[in-house]
Amino acid sequence: MSLTGPSEHGERSPQYSMRSQLDLLIGDKRRRIAAVSFTSTIAALTEAGIFAVVAQVAAALVNGKSVHSQTGIFHFHATIGTLLWIGFGLALLRLALQWPLSILPARIAADVQAGLRKKIFRSFAGASWDVQSRDREGQLQEIMTNQTSQATAGALQATALVNTSITFVILMAAAVVLSPPAAGVVLGIAVLMFALLRPLRSLGARWARELSAEQVRYAGGVAEANRLAEETQVFGVAGAQFDRIARLVDACRSLFLRTQVMIKLVPNLYQSFIYLLLIAALAALHAVGSGRAGSLGAVVLLLVRAAQNGQQLQTAYQTLQQSLPFVDRLDRARTRYAESSPADGGGQLASVGTLAFENVSFAYTPGRPVLSEVSFAVDAGEAIGIVGPSGAGKSTLVQILLRLRAPSAGRYLVNRGAVEQYARADWHRLVAYVPQEPRLLHASVAENIRFFRDLDDEALERAARLARIHEDIVSWPEGYETIVGPRADAVSGGQQQRICLARALAARPQVLVLDEPTSALDPHSETLIQESLTALKTELTLFTIAHRMSTLDMCDRVMVILDGRLVAFDTKAVLIEQNPYYRSASMIAAGAPGGVLP
Ligand SMILES: Nc1ncnc2c1ncn2[C@@H]1O[C@H](COP(=O)(O)OP(=O)(O)OP(=O)(O)O)[C@@H](O)[C@H]1O
Ligand SMILES: [Mg+2]
Repeated sequence: MSLTGPSEHGERSPQYSMRSQLDLLIGDKRRRIAAVSFTSTIAALTEAGIFAVVAQVAAALVNGKSVHSQTGIFHFHATIGTLLWIGFGLALLRLALQWPLSILPARIAADVQAGLRKKIFRSFAGASWDVQSRDREGQLQEIMTNQTSQATAGALQATALVNTSITFVILMAAAVVLSPPAAGVVLGIAVLMFALLRPLRSLGARWARELSAEQVRYAGGVAEANRLAEETQVFGVAGAQFDRIARLVDACRSLFLRTQVMIKLVPNLYQSFIYLLLIAALAALHAVGSGRAGSLGAVVLLLVRAAQNGQQLQTAYQTLQQSLPFVDRLDRARTRYAESSPADGGGQLASVGTLAFENVSFAYTPGRPVLSEVSFAVDAGEAIGIVGPSGAGKSTLVQILLRLRAPSAGRYLVNRGAVEQYARADWHRLVAYVPQEPRLLHASVAENIRFFRDLDDEALERAARLARIHEDIVSWPEGYETIVGPRADAVSGGQQQRICLARALAARPQVLVLDEPTSALDPHSETLIQESLTALKTELTLFTIAHRMSTLDMCDRVMVILDGRLVAFDTKAVLIEQNPYYRSASMIAAGAPGGVLP
């Protein structure tokens, strides 16, 4: 058994093109990227102009004359004063351009991050329960936080890449104008270096991909350790738990180290060639002979800047390439969620009458059915108990009833029509559920009962009374505003169960499905809740999974599920006569009141 093995089912293998990933990342930011390109072009032209002016003025100061120069193809004549004014103007313009050059990339990155997060969560929210329930613990959290941040770094680098490439090209173009041989040498070496460093960049990208997967494992481990903190204390396994997390941390550390080395090493190697580059350029100048101090100065300045820019270009490219695996992971997760999105019939469902299964089978893994050929029909207003040994398929049956899962074979009929034809919105309004394990929001009791729906305070209080929790709530100093939650001490296990029951009753459902909802209640509270549910019998159809025979008191008929088959479905009186499983369970319960079914 692997505790840390990946469990991202059905993801495609990580093969993608840089272009498609970039498109995913910043494809919808084309206008802003164009604005960055435009501003970068102006800024680079300004910079080249400043270099030319500075070099000419320096040369003129040395010679003590006004400037009369032939620079490459350009001829100009100006006084030092005029040139200084031009230089001053260009420098001011460049200063002003820093504003859009800083804001635009930041905006792009911020929007990319927010956009990715919303897009992924929207797909998750619309995904099938099947896919949601297969997610490893902590995976969604990791994807929505850390991995989106790392993908966002890619968006920043992509804009930096646009900026630096444009600057590089313009400075090189200016250098070509001033001295073609020197510029040619610099360009040649830059292109060669870029090609030579390619294997290192690929290695960096591969490690980044491994790091992305390792971080999901690490997040899963942390989430699990957090959830099992109580058990870890009781069993005294804090040391072993630490070791497990430490192994996950170390696995991330080693990959993080390698990716960081790559991010630094590749540009640093490139930088070391700057000097080589410069010397080579000067040698080229020397070989062709160039006497003009002004143009020589400008060429040197341009080459230094272009070389420095080339290094930034390398850094941006390297970091971008190492961000793309994160973009890929996000996209695969998003696609996996989106592709699982269940269809919505759209048909109106005003009320739920009969519910029926016709030969329904279900398998989590093809070829291994956990429900086989289950058929039944239930009328509106009936109260149905479901019993059977652990692992028999009760929860699976209930999940199909709730439309959380679709049958692998057979039909599920509501009001004699296929359930798939009805709008999910109508369905959710009419059907409610209380899981075996109550799950609260970290929020007030009122918000927990309301659960994001449009319900007034009156509806909340009515539900709380029916769930026999109202008296408890009003006895707390903050009443309905008391903050409860998975880790809040304010509420006991039984109270949590009753808050969840109130949540289920609040919107007046017509079908209520309970997965042994009274397991954490004392016999007195249990009886009271049963009285409430019995009183609601005319209003709703009730299905309740029962591990305790006492839960069945309010039921009209009981389903006996054995090994994925519905072996009996009748009244308690008939079952006790005819069904051996039910009879033995009743006898055990009678021998030990409130006893647990085998
Ligand atoms: N998500 C899942 N993926 C694969 N198999 C599953 C999954 N959930 C349940 N099963 C398998 O399906 C079978 C029926 O499980 P189910 O949860 O429906 O049983 P149950 O009757 O509710 O049991 P219990 O009384 O213990 O809650 C079991 O063998 C279980 O291992
Ligand atoms: Mg179950």
